Amino acid sequence: MQHRLIAATLAASALIASAGGAVLAAPPAPAPSATTATGVYTEQQAAQGASLYAERCALCHGASAQGTWEVPPLTGRFFANWGHGSVGALADYVGRAMPQMAPGTLEPQEKVAIVAFLLKSNGMPAGAKPLPADAATLGAIMIEPVAPKATH
Ligand code: HEC
Repeated sequence: MQHRLIAATLAASALIASAGGAVLAAPPAPAPSATTATGVYTEQQAAQGASLYAERCALCHGASAQGTWEVPPLTGRFFANWGHGSVGALADYVGRAMPQMAPGTLEPQEKVAIVAFLLKSNGMPAGAKPLPADAATLGAIMIEPVAPKATH
């Protein structure tokens, strides 16, 4: 009788421990897991993004993302705005605000393919795994400008 009570108590505390664990296993802001310098998209994905870009973005941002009249470029000084932010923030902006005449019309997979193309256009290397569409993973990838940092 005694040992049955102990077993029940242990089972109950294991249940509480696992419930507590589940809460701890969902941190609100994951630590940065990767940067764009480590190859966070595939060549195939960037190629898909390039054709989407040509269809949906080039009209305003220019055929090679150089910018046009009153529309900012998506290369060069562009990354001064986004450098050291997350790929998630960039993807989120693109998904919510672009294309400017029809914001919110990109499918999640289209959005990340276009972002992969933008990373490639800015000299970030391709890798073995495609850029995922889920916001938590994207938010943990930091944009790291490619130009060598000044030594001081
Ligand atoms: C109808 C014209 C138009 C189209 C089409 C368009 N954009 Fe834009 N885009 C703009 C304008 C104008 C701005 C500047 C907006 C601002 O400053 O509020 C901008 C800003 C941006 C920025 C922020 C640039 C920066 O320097 O921070 C990104 C990123 C971007 N666009 C991506 C895209 C992508 C990707 C597409 C295609 C899916 C796209 N845009 C399609 C007009 C357009």
